[in-house]
Amino acid sequence: MTDEIWDSLLPVAYKALSPYQWTPIEITRFTWEYLKTESVSSVMDLGSGVGKFCLNLVQYANGSFPVYGVEDRKELVELSLELKQKMGLTGVQFTNSDFLVNFPFGHSHYYVFNPLYEMMKGEHSIDFKKERSAMVFIKNLQIFKNHLNHCKKGTKVITYHGFGGTALPGYKKILKKEWEIGEWMVWEKE
Ligand SMILES: C[S@@+](CC[C@H](N)C(=O)[O-])C[C@H]1O[C@@H](n2cnc3c(N)ncnc32)[C@H](O)[C@@H]1O
Repeated sequence: MTDEIWDSLLPVAYKALSPYQWTPIEITRFTWEYLKTESVSSVMDLGSGVGKFCLNLVQYANGSFPVYGVEDRKELVELSLELKQKMGLTGVQFTNSDFLVNFPFGHSHYYVFNPLYEMMKGEHSIDFKKERSAMVFIKNLQIFKNHLNHCKKGTKVITYHGFGGTALPGYKKILKKEWEIGEWMVWEKE
């Protein structure tokens, strides 16, 4: 499977956003290589978009652990569910919710592809429904960091293109890989 083939399943507007908004398959495969070495109870993608990361990860994981995605844009959750059905996949669930309001605690591993950054930039946006404001970004980043700080010891947060800040209180950085297409890191709750 290549990104080109996978992305061709998307409506044109979402396909065009793929290089900027959805995790490339190479990064998901690399994440799976890391997860294989871990004791994983479940993986939660915070801001799952069209479901690209979850739908590819669940195929690599092949039943090793359940995969979850939470996404606040209803139409993207609906599309994720359609793709899941079309691909005949099980072991992956998508929920339409705002993780800043209802944080999904209890997963051993979280995946984060910089979901809050959209508040800061105008280019390659999914839509223009959300307010763009540095003040709101800072406030939301604080809420996000606070939720992550309440996860239990040993929880891992995997970031691609970061989580929006530089320091993650309560966590230590344990892995880092620089890709030409973006930085991948793992943080562990102390
Ligand atoms: C950069 S995209 C990553 C999509 C997906 N994780 C992937 O890797 O393919 C970030 C996603 O986070 C979603 N998002 C941003 N803030 C959110 C929030 N507070 N609650 C739920 N989803 C959110 C956006 O709608 C967007 O779909």
